[in-house]
Amino acid sequence: MSDNNETLESLLQEKRLFPPPESFKRAAVATSEIYKEGEDPEAFWARTASELHWFERWDKVLEWNLPFAKWFVGGKINASYNCLDRHIGGPSRDKTAIIWEGEPGEQRTITYFDLYREVNAFANALKKLGVKKSDRVTIYMPMIPEIVIAMLACARIGAPHSVVFGGFSAEALRERINDAEAKLLITVDGGYRRGKVIPLKQSADEILKDTPTIESVVVVRRVGDILRTAMRQGRDYWYHDVVSGAEEYCKPEQMDAEDMLFLLYSSGTTGKPKGVVHTTGGYLTGVYTTFKYIFDYKPEDVFWCTADVGWITGHSYIIYGPLLNGATQVMYEGAPDYPGRGRWWSIIEKHKVSILYTAPTAIRSFIKWGTAWLEQYDLSSLRLLGTVGEPINPEAWVWYYKYVGNEGCPIVDTWWQTETGQVILTPLPGVTVCKPGSVAHPFPGTGAEVVDEHGNPVKPGGSGYLVLTKPWPAMLRTLYKDEQRYIETYWSRFPGKYLTGDGAKLDEDGYFWILGRVDDIIKVAGHRISTAEVESALVDHQAVAEAAVIGIPHEIKGEAIAAFVILKEGQEGTPQMQQELRAHVRKKIGPIAVPETVIFVSELPKTRSGKIMRRLLRDIASGRAPGDVSTLAEPAVMAELKQKYESQEAE
Ligand code: WT7
Repeated sequence: MSDNNETLESLLQEKRLFPPPESFKRAAVATSEIYKEGEDPEAFWARTASELHWFERWDKVLEWNLPFAKWFVGGKINASYNCLDRHIGGPSRDKTAIIWEGEPGEQRTITYFDLYREVNAFANALKKLGVKKSDRVTIYMPMIPEIVIAMLACARIGAPHSVVFGGFSAEALRERINDAEAKLLITVDGGYRRGKVIPLKQSADEILKDTPTIESVVVVRRVGDILRTAMRQGRDYWYHDVVSGAEEYCKPEQMDAEDMLFLLYSSGTTGKPKGVVHTTGGYLTGVYTTFKYIFDYKPEDVFWCTADVGWITGHSYIIYGPLLNGATQVMYEGAPDYPGRGRWWSIIEKHKVSILYTAPTAIRSFIKWGTAWLEQYDLSSLRLLGTVGEPINPEAWVWYYKYVGNEGCPIVDTWWQTETGQVILTPLPGVTVCKPGSVAHPFPGTGAEVVDEHGNPVKPGGSGYLVLTKPWPAMLRTLYKDEQRYIETYWSRFPGKYLTGDGAKLDEDGYFWILGRVDDIIKVAGHRISTAEVESALVDHQAVAEAAVIGIPHEIKGEAIAAFVILKEGQEGTPQMQQELRAHVRKKIGPIAVPETVIFVSELPKTRSGKIMRRLLRDIASGRAPGDVSTLAEPAVMAELKQKYESQEAE
């Protein structure tokens, strides 16, 4: 469970209540009635699904062969048709879909009709390059409009996309391309980050010799002449070349509701990332509905989700949720502090953003930078705030409420996962009385419980494992090519209940409070990183014999990574070696997985059966007296570790 004890304690003592403002309540999209409607989940989800366009209506809302769900059985639907064609027939044709701001300052405004045309043209280009229904396409791109076009073009022709976050390393990209057996890669010459150009195509070139299934690569020209981008004849194509002259209409593929819409890799508790499989009809219904009610969506809103499209938050609440609802949204390419720490606030002022959805780690940075940055801007367009990705400490919640929301905006703290596809636990704005730090209640038509070791629900006031008790439309259907792992990871611990991997508390009023992961997953700045993945990257270095990785509390990131490393005989634990190991992890996984601290030790605390006791490492790192050490094979290692940790920390 999370070691952030300070946060935990303040969280559990939090008593402040924030009822929805009266004016908000009067005009809210959700009323308490929808909780009643949600008591019949199938009827509720069928009602909202009917608001989408179906080529053929389903015969059956849900077929539940635990743990395998099929939603809207027999229904035929297309994601791109619902995000685009459905709007352009009416008054939304010339409505702005995306207001894009590049980091260097350029701006592009893209209407629904513009997006429709570009998606159709690119869909035809993909077909011409040989992509067929059900072929996987990997996308490795920064936050530029072409990533939206690329995803929707894939959806249009029924080719599942697999987006790999642009901050991942080339090796991480290779692993994901090969697992997906992708036929085509869509990437970019380079992207901007804090003024620097990140050459993504060049990175991809490092590994494209080891990706046997890739037949072609499409490259978007983003930075142009700043980089000399090598293009291999017969394999690499510029995006602008393949779309020029492409036909402007591409008939959308009629997909079965249960056909795969996309794959998204996420960290699990072993070193190998899991390919989370999302299908079409249920996923679209789940994100369409949650976007509408949780963000209180009105046609005149300007929505801004600050996540990267490379994560599930971007898939569900930049691509599919907002576009299915016909919303106008802001998309920003770069860093929050570039060129200055007021960048986000200037974007909100300039584009009159009304709904802001971001992560606690960003809020904690803003708190640290001070309120002077936001006070220079007019943020009065904001009417609703959201947060996601990790527990928010009550003080950060209240700061967000006070300084960003000017005490007038409800805050929706939304709990969900790559696997859930859609938000599950959340307040409903205009309905729920919010408690800072609590994710409130299950969204209508979904079910959650906090259970003890035996799977029995805890009494109000108790804590335990967070489980989900009912199938929901956007749930993952399986792990790609690994059904066994799907069953074992989510459905084996408590029969009939989905294991989230999070600890939670249920308070006396029935509100849920997330306490953090109970497995070997770390949340660094809201990003999910498995200890095993970082450990594998470390032992892959020739000097390393063994490694154990834990999460340690971090003021801004929530958690940071600490690595305990045993070097091979003859290797020296120098500061240079620390740097080398950090660089190695960066190369294997990417910057987000680089350990904050690397500590060289000669032993690790292990059980007699050889399992590393990370719990004891966490005790050492947080300066706590070690918990139960009776199962330790060599109790003496604790003293050595403690001494090493403290002396190296002091350096
Ligand atoms: C894990 C899932 C879902 C979008 C981004 C993360 C943590 C997520 C909250 C929240 C406390 C949260 C959980 C969860 N988490 N939202 N509002 N409060 N914790 O997706 O990378 O799949 O991570 O993020 O630990 O299991 P993900």
